[in-house]
Amino acid sequence: VLHLIAALAFGYLLGSIPFGLLITRAAGLGDVRKIGSGNIGATNVLRTGNKGLAGLTLVCDALKGTAAALIAGSFAPELGIAAGFAAFIGHIFPVWLGFKGGKGVATYLGVLLGLAWKAVLAFAVIWLAIAFLLRYSSLAALLATLGVPVALFIMGQTDLALVFAVMSAIVWLKHRANIGRLLAGTESRIGSKG
Ligand code: G3P
Repeated sequence: VLHLIAALAFGYLLGSIPFGLLITRAAGLGDVRKIGSGNIGATNVLRTGNKGLAGLTLVCDALKGTAAALIAGSFAPELGIAAGFAAFIGHIFPVWLGFKGGKGVATYLGVLLGLAWKAVLAFAVIWLAIAFLLRYSSLAALLATLGVPVALFIMGQTDLALVFAVMSAIVWLKHRANIGRLLAGTESRIGSKG
C-alpha cells in the first residue's frame, strides 16, 4: 500500500507540472489562459502563433505521463498504471493552479505510450485523420480517446482498456465546452487564432 501511495504521489506531482503555462511564460508570451479557449494545452499554445512552443508543450505534457508510467512501472506493472493515471489526473487538476489544469489529451497519449505503445498507433491514426480532414483538435481528441479503449480491448489488454475508458470519460467531461461549440458549429479550427 505504501508503494501504491508513493506511485500515486509521484505520478500526480509529475503530471501537475503545467508545461504549457511555464513554456509560454518563459517565452514572454504572457498567460496562455487569457487567450483562445483559456486552456493550458498545446492546442491553445498554438493560438499564440508559435508552432514550436505548441509542439514543445505537447511533447513535455505527453512525456511527463510516459515518465511517470515507466519509472513507477519499473518497480511493478501495477505501479506504472497507478502513476500514469495519477499523472493524467495531476495534469487536469494541478494543485498549483487551484486544480484548474488542462484537458488531459497530451498526457493521456504519453501515459498510453508508456503502458501500451502499440495502442498509440490507434490514437495517432484517428487523431491525424480527423485533424487533417476537419481541422478540429478537440474532435480529433474526442474520437481518438473513444478508439483507444476499444483498441486495448481488441489487443486483449482488458484491465488497461478499463483504465483508459475511465480516462477517456474524464477527457470527454473536460471537453464539454468544446462539444457544445462543435455542435453549434463555432469550434475554432487548427490554424485559426480563435
Ligand atoms: O487537447 C485539447 C484540445 O482537444 C482542445 O483544446 O484549447 O481547443 O480547448 P482547446
